[in-house]
Amino acid sequence: MKKTILTGIRPTGNLHIGHYFGACQNWIRLQNDYDFYLEIADVQALTDNFNNPEKVRKNVNEIVMDLLASGIDPEKVHLFIQSRIPEIAELTVFYSNLVTVSRLQRNPTVKSEIAQKKELFGNDGESITYGFLGYPVSQAADITAFDGELVPVGEDQNPLIEQCREIVRKFNSIYGETLKEPECLFTENKRIKGLDGNEKMGKSLGNAIYLVDDEETINKKIMSAVTDPNKIKKDDPANPDVCMVYYYHKLVNDKPSCENICAECKKGARGCVQCKRELIAKMNEFLAPIKERRKQYENNPELVKQILEKGTHDAKLRAEEQIKKVKHAIKIDY
Ligand code: TRP
Repeated sequence: MKKTILTGIRPTGNLHIGHYFGACQNWIRLQNDYDFYLEIADVQALTDNFNNPEKVRKNVNEIVMDLLASGIDPEKVHLFIQSRIPEIAELTVFYSNLVTVSRLQRNPTVKSEIAQKKELFGNDGESITYGFLGYPVSQAADITAFDGELVPVGEDQNPLIEQCREIVRKFNSIYGETLKEPECLFTENKRIKGLDGNEKMGKSLGNAIYLVDDEETINKKIMSAVTDPNKIKKDDPANPDVCMVYYYHKLVNDKPSCENICAECKKGARGCVQCKRELIAKMNEFLAPIKERRKQYENNPELVKQILEKGTHDAKLRAEEQIKKVKHAIKIDY
């Protein structure tokens, strides 16, 4: 029997190149060999967007189309919406007894998210909700509802998976061996830097290329990408290792071309404008089949709906089985 994989994504915006190379590409490889549950984590997205439900609603559809366009195969992956599986919410309640508030506050991912919020809103943490603090518990429910054995995520998610493992161990030690401890399956391409060289890529930073960006937008973004600041004139030799244009060439261009770009750049035989133009062409080439596939889904919303219905149905059956076992273990199987 195939092992079960579970991962999730928050529907808070369209997918960008960072998502594609940092996550999707890995998922697309894995979908052939595993029983793969891919959750659109709308409930988790609401933990810090509870006052903006339209945003989450709109992006559920957007992200599903982006995923399908990227190459997620609905014949192989159970693509489902978190809120449609109430068993996840039930598990969250049961697990919430097994984790202390201070442990959640010490979770490194949560801790840094809280720090970011404080920086943004300049408060002393008063606005940190119970739901937000508890989202790792709900994420543990996401994983264990399907007996997820492997969780393909970026390294930033490690503390959340570790938290899940602790909850599983605690559950099993109190109620008897019931749940499986999941393991992380890290993506090779860790985090993709933004066009400005920032370690993080995102909408608010304006440094991301989205899978849905049109050619004009891509043109503008790549033309303003950060290059070696020490290169002043077109034929100055430069250091490609500090250049974001070269960094992106390595993502979408072939190896021999990249080697050539690197050598020419170091010699001063390559201007940045030409190099950017070549990157724009390669980026458009790379995105063309993705956009083509996306168009088919955009023109057929019924199909997207059907895919989600099917995936959600599969997920629901699996979660129903699991909740029975859990309730039996807790002796609430009346
Ligand atoms: N927290 C993850 C993120 O922000 C998304 C997610 C939700 C997830 N549920 C999950 C990841 C379950 C792995 C397993 O990227």
